[in-house]
Amino acid sequence: MKAMTLKSFGGPEAFELRDVAKPVPSPGQVLVRVHATSINPLDYQVRRGDYSDLVPLPAITGHDVSGIVEAVGPGVTTFSPGDEVWYTPQIFDGPGSYAEYHVAAEGIVGKKPVSLTHLEAASLTLVGGTVWEALVVRAALRVGESILVHGGAGGVGHVAIQVAKAMGARVFTTVREANFEFATSLGADVVIDYTTEDYADAVMRETGGRGVDVVFDTIGGNTLSRSPDALAQLGRVVTIVDIAQPQNLVQAWGKNASYHFVFTRQNRGKLDELSALVERGQLRPHVGAVYSLADIPLAHTLLETRNNGVRGKIAIAVGPSANLAGADLP
Ligand SMILES: NC(=O)c1ccc[n+]([C@@H]2O[C@H](COP(=O)([O-])OP(=O)(O)OC[C@H]3O[C@@H](n4cnc5c(N)ncnc54)[C@H](OP(=O)(O)O)[C@@H]3O)[C@@H](O)[C@H]2O)c1
Repeated sequence: MKAMTLKSFGGPEAFELRDVAKPVPSPGQVLVRVHATSINPLDYQVRRGDYSDLVPLPAITGHDVSGIVEAVGPGVTTFSPGDEVWYTPQIFDGPGSYAEYHVAAEGIVGKKPVSLTHLEAASLTLVGGTVWEALVVRAALRVGESILVHGGAGGVGHVAIQVAKAMGARVFTTVREANFEFATSLGADVVIDYTTEDYADAVMRETGGRGVDVVFDTIGGNTLSRSPDALAQLGRVVTIVDIAQPQNLVQAWGKNASYHFVFTRQNRGKLDELSALVERGQLRPHVGAVYSLADIPLAHTLLETRNNGVRGKIAIAVGPSANLAGADLP
């Protein structure tokens, strides 16, 4: 099978499209014909060597799968050949999804939502699972509460806006001006231009000085130390970003704030919850661009440099979907 393989850590030129052995499902595993995957910042972080201790080379990376079960290993009871499935492969544990076939433990695999294309489904598994973990499991966002979603036009942020709305929250988000309409169309109630306005000032103005109940950090920098400026009493901060610099959290004390650090975990339950939101029409990933397996190096460059104006996700069409690369988007 074809697989985009990482030969060494470095720039996008470190990839090579290779013929590699098709995997065989072990007991408890399913073999999936990959129809689509997508690009996440984790992919270029792995490529450039941020997690070199955890990734033996040569490596197949990639963290989203939408496809069709081709075969099942001994003991698999949930799936049969022909089932349409979606999942995030175990991170840092075996080959990823930049390939024509992938094997996975059945416990992390879900039935793909019927109303999503493979390109859309592969654009939701990692970011959707992360949002579910952050907003539902950790922040325990409640009906009537308010949340500030940083980076509302990005892969994670555009899903977080929709999930928070579905949970009955008032949603504030930060985007650049070109993405105001996009954020509003996803359901954001208050859109803040992070390039021209201080987000904490804007939140305090819009909430009459109260602040929001939850801050969802998708951007890093000094967001943890600054969040108390935008938080209500007993507020929660959830971050999904590497803590790259030491930060002083003394102001969090005065707000009785709590902080949650999330590294997404894989399980079918989260996928089933996301699928329910999708099928009720409350959640739809936005596929901003589609590339082929062979164009993954280019897709990495576009996401990493963010000079592409792409909103939402960059999807990769694999195998049977490959003729969709570059086509008009769903
Ligand atoms: N812990 C986990 O399990 C987990 C899971 C998924 C993702 N992540 C991490 O979460 C981060 C975001 O992932 P993603 O997939 O959403 O990335 P992405 O698709 O590249 O989106 C990032 C977004 O942040 C926006 N942005 C950049 N600087 C900003 C600022 N100062 N204020 C507000 N928005 C800003 C960008 O907007 P512009 O277009 O205007 O630049 C872009 O829309 C990455 O660091 C990723 O590694 C962690």
